[in-house]
Amino acid sequence: MQENFSLKPYNTFGVEARSRFFTEVNTIDELKEALTFAETQSLQLLFLGGGSNILLTKDFDGLAIRLNLRGISEESIHENEVWVTAKAGENWHEFVMYCLQKNYGGLENLSLIPGNVGTSPMQNIGAYGTEIKDIFVSCEVLDLESFELRTFNLEQCRFGYRDSIFKQEGRGRYVILEVTFKLTQKNHSIKTEYGAIQSELENLGIENPTIQDVSRAVINIRQSKLPNPKEIGNAGSFFKNPTIPLAQFEALKQQFENIQGYPNGEMVKVPAGWLIEQCGWKGKQIGNVASHKLQSLVIINATGNATGKEIFDFSTEIINSVKDKFGIELEREVNII
Ligand code: EPU
Repeated sequence: MQENFSLKPYNTFGVEARSRFFTEVNTIDELKEALTFAETQSLQLLFLGGGSNILLTKDFDGLAIRLNLRGISEESIHENEVWVTAKAGENWHEFVMYCLQKNYGGLENLSLIPGNVGTSPMQNIGAYGTEIKDIFVSCEVLDLESFELRTFNLEQCRFGYRDSIFKQEGRGRYVILEVTFKLTQKNHSIKTEYGAIQSELENLGIENPTIQDVSRAVINIRQSKLPNPKEIGNAGSFFKNPTIPLAQFEALKQQFENIQGYPNGEMVKVPAGWLIEQCGWKGKQIGNVASHKLQSLVIINATGNATGKEIFDFSTEIINSVKDKFGIELEREVNII
């Protein structure tokens, strides 16, 4: 147990914030011990995975627990299906690479997403046409109310776009300990419908891609436009892509003929990056904070010295200008602490 501990290395924005207490846990027993300590001292809790989807705007007056549970196991279901279980503290991308090495298919489009396995169900991570709900079997959690282990299946997780029960009514109640995915051992279903993947595969001269080729293409695309958090502090997309009613989209189209939208029934999903860019934010820097020059949906700690408050205020300015110009209210995707 450490006191007055700097969380700077534990958040990918790289902002300074201190936690009154901090501990790292490697087993469920260690986790329970830490929770008992917090209970006796009436401390608030903050769970840290890879720290890739949080913005710390102030010091934390409680106990921050970094979940470091490790291990991967697998069970062959039949010749084409394998269930792979990874503990919460496994690094997401290393887990994806492990599966690709074994030729297990299903995770390749999710290559190079920062963070750990344990936080992947929280926001139903997704990229290039895949979300974890597509390959999810279940996750095991510790219920902080009863101190009991519980299993959530696909339906119980209530996954939506960057959303799950763990971000809604289950927020703060469950600690995800391990996640099981259903992957293919052969007859992989290759998802290349996302335009950027197709053009990258063409660049690479690949006609009949394997799952490893798709992963390579995704890695190339991400590296070409998303900043590496190890080099420039960021948390990926800062906002969700907003979904608006078709009628509102059509009215906007009259005014902004280049507006893009992906219809889904009576609603249309609009790329937030485009809206932000149209408001003049792409590459713009104020103080220590900027919108990334190649992907305006990503806010960066441009100098490495930004505070969480500065980043938060910058995001508020973006929200206000998108609201003024388009009448659309952007929602933050990153968890604000
Ligand atoms: N666009 C702009 N200007 C910008 C950025 C984007 O005009 O500055 C336009 C692009 O031209 C494109 C559209 O917006 O037509 C969509 O852009 P992109 O393909 O880069 O995807 P995105 O919608 O911005 C989402 C996810 C990403 C994920 C990519 C690829 C969200 C909030 N973000 O971004 O996820 O990698 O799709 O699937 O849904 C993350 O969550 O941290 C993340 C990086």
